[in-house]
Amino acid sequence: MTATGPAGSFGPVRPRRLRRTPAMRRLATQVRLHPADLVLPLFVKEGIDEPQPIPSMPGVVQHTRESVRKAVTEAVQAGVGGVMLFGIPAVKDARGSGADDPDGVVQVALRDVGAEVGDSTVVMADLCLDEYTDHGHCGLLTPSGDVDNDATLERYASIAVAQAAAGAHVVGPSGMMDGQVAAIRGALDTAGFADVAILAYTAKYASAMYGPFRDAAECAPQFGDRAGYQQDPARSSDEAVREALLDVAEGADMVMVKPALGYLDVVRRLADAVDVPVAAYNVSGEYAMVEAAAANGWLDRDRAIDEMLTSIKRAGADIVLTYWATEVAARL
Ligand code: PBG
Repeated sequence: MTATGPAGSFGPVRPRRLRRTPAMRRLATQVRLHPADLVLPLFVKEGIDEPQPIPSMPGVVQHTRESVRKAVTEAVQAGVGGVMLFGIPAVKDARGSGADDPDGVVQVALRDVGAEVGDSTVVMADLCLDEYTDHGHCGLLTPSGDVDNDATLERYASIAVAQAAAGAHVVGPSGMMDGQVAAIRGALDTAGFADVAILAYTAKYASAMYGPFRDAAECAPQFGDRAGYQQDPARSSDEAVREALLDVAEGADMVMVKPALGYLDVVRRLADAVDVPVAAYNVSGEYAMVEAAAANGWLDRDRAIDEMLTSIKRAGADIVLTYWATEVAARL
């Protein structure tokens, strides 16, 4: 036996070999952003003549009927995989009547956008009540002020059918009611919309990161909070896996984790647990943090954005919803 085995014949292992030049790093890349992975969320507001800037989301606006068409066209030109529409009605009431009104703001926008871009991108609609209710909760309330799960499911079923009739390719239930996917699937199938897909907000946490969105969508709860229906960040990711398996069993075509950055462990768990595409929502607070820091000169904005989106994909997301979708898709 000699003392010089293979280990002795080589120098130390050198992972840095693959990092040496830009060309080498490009070859060795394992996570590559692609425009088609990105989905652009858009806000459209009823009854405004000019797009309204959202102070806590610099660069994002509440769109008019006209400007949302233009924004979707630009997104399609940049190659994004899809758009997700959120509506802000002129009038709100306790049952969120605008949400399933055939002439409600999102239904009108869906028809406009459909006429503009057809099937060239995937047009999705957020399916929830909080933008439409005067109390700002995601469902109907009981007299004591709790969100009534099962009564809300009937509203969601009706909204799904209204959105599908207006041309949505995908509906995205975001209210975290138990049984929402089954209720929506059943309603869509019965109404002849078996081809409309469901992107379920499966693991949606009660998060401070939605703050700017609530300005954008004018949907902050008027009392209480959403912790009674959204997931508790302090629960184990096992709970998210359980919710995902339930959603898939109920007919979800895709599942989503939200927010993204603090929940990359959940993204990974879901990617391992289900065989449908996994989306992650890079939410308004995550957007605002980068924009605010960059505006102060504290971060390199573009690098921070690319790093965040790459990290979300590396964690296992197939699809990323991000307010930067058009910009990033155009530069890829
Ligand atoms: C509810 C909904 C919310 C977001 C998307 N859908 C807000 C909430 O649950 O309070 C947040 C998105 C974001 O913060 O970017 N309809």
